[in-house]
Amino acid sequence: MSNSVNIPQFPQAYWRDSVPLPDFPKLNESIKTDVAIVGGGITGITAAYLLTKQGLKVTLIDAGKLLNGVTGHTTAKITAQHGIIYDEFIQHFGEEKASLYYQACMDAKQFIEETIQTHQIDCDYRQEDAYIFTNSDEYVSQLETEKKAYDQLNISGELSNSMPLDIPVKSVLKMDNQAQFHPLKYLNVLVDEAVKNGLEIYEQTTAVDIEYTKHPNILTRDEHRINCNYVIQASHYPFYDGQGFYPTRMYPERSYIIAVKTPEQFPGGMYINAESPTRSVRSANMNGDDLWLIVGENHKTGQGQSTMKHYEALQEYAEKQFGISEFVYRWSAQDLTTMDKLPYIGPVTKNEDNVFVATGYRKWGMTNGTIAAKIISNRILDKDNLYGELFTPSRFQADPAVRKFTRMNADVAKHMIKGKLEYTNDNVKDLKPDDATVTRVNGKRTGVYKDNDHQLYAVDTTCKHLGCEVNWNSGDRTWDCPCHGSRYAYTGEVIEGPANEPLNKVELD
Ligand code: FES
Repeated sequence: MSNSVNIPQFPQAYWRDSVPLPDFPKLNESIKTDVAIVGGGITGITAAYLLTKQGLKVTLIDAGKLLNGVTGHTTAKITAQHGIIYDEFIQHFGEEKASLYYQACMDAKQFIEETIQTHQIDCDYRQEDAYIFTNSDEYVSQLETEKKAYDQLNISGELSNSMPLDIPVKSVLKMDNQAQFHPLKYLNVLVDEAVKNGLEIYEQTTAVDIEYTKHPNILTRDEHRINCNYVIQASHYPFYDGQGFYPTRMYPERSYIIAVKTPEQFPGGMYINAESPTRSVRSANMNGDDLWLIVGENHKTGQGQSTMKHYEALQEYAEKQFGISEFVYRWSAQDLTTMDKLPYIGPVTKNEDNVFVATGYRKWGMTNGTIAAKIISNRILDKDNLYGELFTPSRFQADPAVRKFTRMNADVAKHMIKGKLEYTNDNVKDLKPDDATVTRVNGKRTGVYKDNDHQLYAVDTTCKHLGCEVNWNSGDRTWDCPCHGSRYAYTGEVIEGPANEPLNKVELD
């Protein structure tokens, strides 16, 4: 933790630093279970909690540590206000489905609230209003249109030109009665409860494929098998695609979070602006003090400027708007957006209805992850769910957004070629400590990182997913793929899929 107003040298999420989590063993044999869950974030843990409560034998595996993925790096807003979205959903899906989306989010919020009450979870849960604000004339009229959508869908809110957070705004759209919490304090208790009910957890256990049958086998990187009746892929990017073509139907984006103390007391509320670059503000309770979380600078993974610049931009914004008395944490997160902005939740393909995916949360994982856990566990328990059809991954909606999406994915092809042709002149000898460069070794594009002890780590920059070239992320010291968002440590180990094999190491002379 930093004790100054300077940017902390290493990324660390407040959530993870403030809750000790138990360790679980690695899977070292083949096993059988009813339900195998891949991915220990909010979706996987909530599903495990729900299914073990009903007496099912559930096994959860995670490629790394529990709660160290997107959930561990979230902003943890429990809200149905997912940007300016309801007018678009009405135009695209119709009023009934737009209303269902809102209801699904509010049901998720209620589920979280009830679960907190049932287990008396002390997780800094707080009811807050959510605000979208703007200083741009273009968005003033969009907020007016969005307010009409709120009225049409009976969403309780208000359009005005002021809000409790004291920054200049032209227009503000409030959504009443949303919430925030400390996600790891909450999920830690769900893990305990599920373990009491028989959940088995294995960490450092990577799923690489599925042998699909009526009783699928998950294959792990260590060549063990998990034989089961149902698989839930709650690992962000599905590691098993089943010809569902998910890489062409989603794109990854990163965003950045800084956690600072300011001379001011936080006035309450959760805020996000309408325009770019994104600026979102909420508070968290850190030992009785307000920790201000300033979020934004979204960009497609592996693309854009030096990632440290994004933290600096947030620091500059926080300094200007609120003043910084202490810079405590910085971290970044990644999430996927689908073609129509609705998550994909349900069977991976129409024909493989016992292998589920839950992905494409568009950075709204607390509600969408809870919705997914409920939809999928209901399906396994043979119970109806009002929202199942809305999120089904096999849906297709012809929409202008699809054209835009196709354009965006076209740049995947561009990146595939560009990285390969790029000529690099960097001389590894000139590399400064804690920096990286891309060079050629025997004609192969090679990424080289030098640590503070001057040790060099060289990797072949060809992504193990579909062969794009990864780029250096200086903020997190990772190699990020611009095509579908795989991320690798500087040693080459996979941090985030869809890739499930490490980058090849390269020998330097
Ligand atoms: Fe798909 Fe890298 S993540 S090619």
